Amino acid sequence: MTSLTLPFLVLFYIVVVSEGRDLYSGLDVYFDESQVDFNGTRAEREVTVIELPPILQIQVQRVQFDRVTSNVYKSNAYIKFDKVIHLDRYMEQYRETLRERRKNAREWSQLIDQYTQVLDEFGIDKTIGLSPDEILKRATRFILAQCENDATDDLEYQKDFAEIKKDSERLKSQKEETKEKIAELQDRLKHQYDDLRECEYRIHAVFIHSGQASFGHYWIYIYDFELDRWLKYNDTEVSEVEEAEVFADTSGSSTNPYCMVYVRAQDCKRLVNTVCRRPN
Ligand SMILES: *[C@@H]1O[C@H](CO)[C@@H](O)[C@H](O)[C@H]1NC(C)=O
Ligand SMILES: *[C@@H]1O[C@H](CO)[C@@H](O)[C@H](O)[C@H]1NC(C)=O
Repeated sequence: MTSLTLPFLVLFYIVVVSEGRDLYSGLDVYFDESQVDFNGTRAEREVTVIELPPILQIQVQRVQFDRVTSNVYKSNAYIKFDKVIHLDRYMEQYRETLRERRKNAREWSQLIDQYTQVLDEFGIDKTIGLSPDEILKRATRFILAQCENDATDDLEYQKDFAEIKKDSERLKSQKEETKEKIAELQDRLKHQYDDLRECEYRIHAVFIHSGQASFGHYWIYIYDFELDRWLKYNDTEVSEVEEAEVFADTSGSSTNPYCMVYVRAQDCKRLVNTVCRRPN
């Protein structure tokens, strides 16, 4: 067990491997129990926090190394992050009382990953470039074309159609079931620590990178606590933007946040100030 006493500003690196997870899932990996090598023997490591810093930076490790191809690439996984986060769950004072809850959360989280993999299998197969759904659609079109050419073997075709229809429906219901299970687990996770909201942090800045691992464009969104607005700093251009732009779902895009800065709720107005420059 390691306990950290934290300075003024702390930077956490998180690696997010699967799509659509939130900041907590990245932080969980850092704090949760894990097996480590300690002085030549296997040991359990668990990290808790004794004192939280006023400012917290969470950096997402997007540039990663593919051992198979020896390539550096950028992970574009969408990470959900909220305006307000609570870090009570990682505190030393709750280590014992939350043990069981943390364990449950860990299990649900692993299940979400498993179901997400299942869902991926309903997606596009990389070797043939088609989803199972699309394969069935094409098979139907093929049979229809055959039917037009040759109307003699109607019965055979009807049997084929019935089979394809059954497969399609089975696929659809499996997909829906998996999605429902993921949603249900995510909902449970989301409310697992609802009663613990002392250690509250509010978002102050979001750093964006647009592009690939080796090139791209950077800009930043900063929240102005005084005037309750988001400003976007893009090179020399400063503009006011809608909040929805900052929290947009970036799935499928190579433009995404790689660093979020949070400030302890009670210190927001005292500790940070957006650059006093009027937008445009
Ligand atoms: C590491 O292991 C060695 C021998 O096994 C032992 O003498 C030493 O005290 C251990 N160190 C710590 C920090 O546990
Ligand atoms: C940033 O500003 C440049 C011009 O200065 C513009 O071409 C570009 O589209 C802007 N990017 C974003 C994301 O607003």
